[in-house]
Amino acid sequence: MDSAGTLSVLNSPSEMKKVSDACRKAGRKLGFVPTMGALHQGHISLVEESVRRADVTVASVFVNPTQFGPGEDFDRYERDYKGDVEKLVRCGVNYLFYPDISDIYPDGFQTTVSVGTLGDCLCGPFRPGHFDGVATVVLKLFNIVRPDFAVFGRKDYQQLKIIQKMVRDLDMDIEIVEMPIVREPDGLAMSSRNAYLGEEQRIRATAVNKALHEVRGKFKSGCDDCKILLAEANRVLRMAQINDINYIEIRDPETLELRHRAMEGDLVALAVRVGETRLIDNIVL
Ligand code: PAJ
Repeated sequence: MDSAGTLSVLNSPSEMKKVSDACRKAGRKLGFVPTMGALHQGHISLVEESVRRADVTVASVFVNPTQFGPGEDFDRYERDYKGDVEKLVRCGVNYLFYPDISDIYPDGFQTTVSVGTLGDCLCGPFRPGHFDGVATVVLKLFNIVRPDFAVFGRKDYQQLKIIQKMVRDLDMDIEIVEMPIVREPDGLAMSSRNAYLGEEQRIRATAVNKALHEVRGKFKSGCDDCKILLAEANRVLRMAQINDINYIEIRDPETLELRHRAMEGDLVALAVRVGETRLIDNIVL
């Protein structure tokens, strides 16, 4: 059952727990990659890292309703079960955990994780309740899969930091492995939401990563004044008619505190809307 190329799909948490218990008893290292599906090369890079490090890899596909706000794209979020299964088989993933909403949130469900101040900045104010929803589902998935390690992408940098903090704060014995952002050839960070972009929007969206590079370039040439650095990024975005800018900020890469003077290793993160599509991206200086 565990050999590369053989993928077993498990729907119920109890089946999943049985499998992971058996792995643990056999002393096999279990890697886990949680996703919301519509898998692209960004997800695949995480899965491949897990397959490299682990004896057994579990991926999950679950479009988690509690991390979407009212009016967000839960209903139209891309779903591609067949394509996802094919990609996971090709990577040598052993198990796909693919639960129903009612398996994760049975009637009467009411306990949630409340993330601390790491959730108050960047995307937090624009997506009330989002990070509590993410942390709650990730904690549940961790308890069901009980992996030795779990792999997350830096594409969702704030999410990554919040999960790392939750694991430390709640004494969870799970190593969090970080992976770099995978991009399209023109620099756009891969995202399931890129599929929403029209042709002209897709071209304008390349300014998102260009704006971040502009900041890095100016920083490398000696400017550390965040106001000046960010004015430059804003200019690049507006030139591409990206005027709906949720935020573009320079922050401490661990505490996410706002900087006035930029330092090497700082996070530059932004969220914008191109048409209706919300895009996020970040780089480290
Ligand atoms: P999802 O958006 O499907 O992303 C799953 C994982 O893939 C996350 O760790 C994310 O950071 C990573 N990822 C996405 N695009 C990437 C890219 N271009 N390069 C590298 N990694 C990338 O994030 C979620 O799902 C959910 O919030 C989840 C954690 C599954 C909880 O519901």
